[in-house]
Amino acid sequence: MEINRHLQNVKPSYIREILSAAKSPDVISLAGGLPATDLMPVELFMQAMATLDRTPEVFQYGETQGYAPLLEFVEKNYHLSNEMASIVCNGSQQGLDLIARAFINPGDIVVMEAPSYLGALQVFGLAQANIESVQQYENGPDLEELESIFASKSVKLFYAVPDFHNPTGVCWPLEVRQKVASLCLQYDVTFVEDAPYRDMRFNGEALPLVSSWCVDRAIILRSFSKLAAPGVRLGIVSSRHALIVPMIKVKQAADLHTNLPMQAALLNVFQNSEFQMHKERIRTRYQERYQSLCEALNDLSEQGCSFDTVEGGMFVWLKLPDINAMSLASRLIENGVAVVPSDVFYPSEEMNRPALRLNFSHCSPEKLKKAVSVIKQALLEMI
Ligand SMILES: Cc1ncc(COP(=O)(O)O)c(C=O)c1O
Repeated sequence: MEINRHLQNVKPSYIREILSAAKSPDVISLAGGLPATDLMPVELFMQAMATLDRTPEVFQYGETQGYAPLLEFVEKNYHLSNEMASIVCNGSQQGLDLIARAFINPGDIVVMEAPSYLGALQVFGLAQANIESVQQYENGPDLEELESIFASKSVKLFYAVPDFHNPTGVCWPLEVRQKVASLCLQYDVTFVEDAPYRDMRFNGEALPLVSSWCVDRAIILRSFSKLAAPGVRLGIVSSRHALIVPMIKVKQAADLHTNLPMQAALLNVFQNSEFQMHKERIRTRYQERYQSLCEALNDLSEQGCSFDTVEGGMFVWLKLPDINAMSLASRLIENGVAVVPSDVFYPSEEMNRPALRLNFSHCSPEKLKKAVSVIKQALLEMI
């Protein structure tokens, strides 16, 4: 049977493929956006699941929008106004898919930063959106380029990750946030703010969501994968009520609703006083791991590599000298280190600037250092 024609054009996720190679115990993986397995709040989840017999109704079919007590908790916690509504999804990745299927017609223009989150490139590609890229620098998108696209084309959505971007770790400063929000209002563009790393700040002051300045034109995606656990597959989309209603319709058709016992368990974890300590613990550990990685990476400057510091998230973007990042990544995997080359984060080859995405949350400081020494050796051989 012929595969759907649009699917034929969507690249398979290099990351999901490399993740299976990286599972080998002999490979040090800096490839996935994986939280540290040894720091997962497993004990809190076990305690939470032991309470589920008090709410047998969660084992029945439920509301598509999500488990009402979890929705209430989230709305209160994130200070969402009465005009806003939320929908619980199977991770924020499903939220992205619901947005695309609810709002994108083939050919609609979606603006994304280059480089961009691969999962979003896939979703909007499958929805046959016309993807326009705006170059990203260390302070976020090129604002002149962004305005010129907004002014000259009928843009439907601007998708971005303003807090600790995947793959680059970039965090937009206040003035960039305000400017992007005002451009979205001026040109009637809906801003899709993907914020899975927002709570993963270990340095500096938290900044307001971009959406706080353009709330009527915004859709916010939050993920519970990074602070809690990715395996539970829970995330949430919030927006004006009128924009959530079509997403509920799509979700009904997709899977009726997200796993209710898991939503109830997650709520119980959030309400456990030890969860606060868990959050602080992982931020501290990630900061330590980040510092170890940076110290090791400083050793690569002689090979023409550089990187910008980050204040949170899970990634460092190692800019390479003029070599083929994909070939370097292949050579590294042969030598037992998995990384993701910049190529996969750009919609077209011409935009690619050679770099590696390095994850620092998953491995111990010793493994991070070992990985960098393997990178150095491979660079010496290739240059
Ligand atoms: C920017 C971005 N958005 C969305 C997701 C998907 O997260 P979730 O596990 O909530 O589906 C990820 C996962 O790494 C991500 O990096």
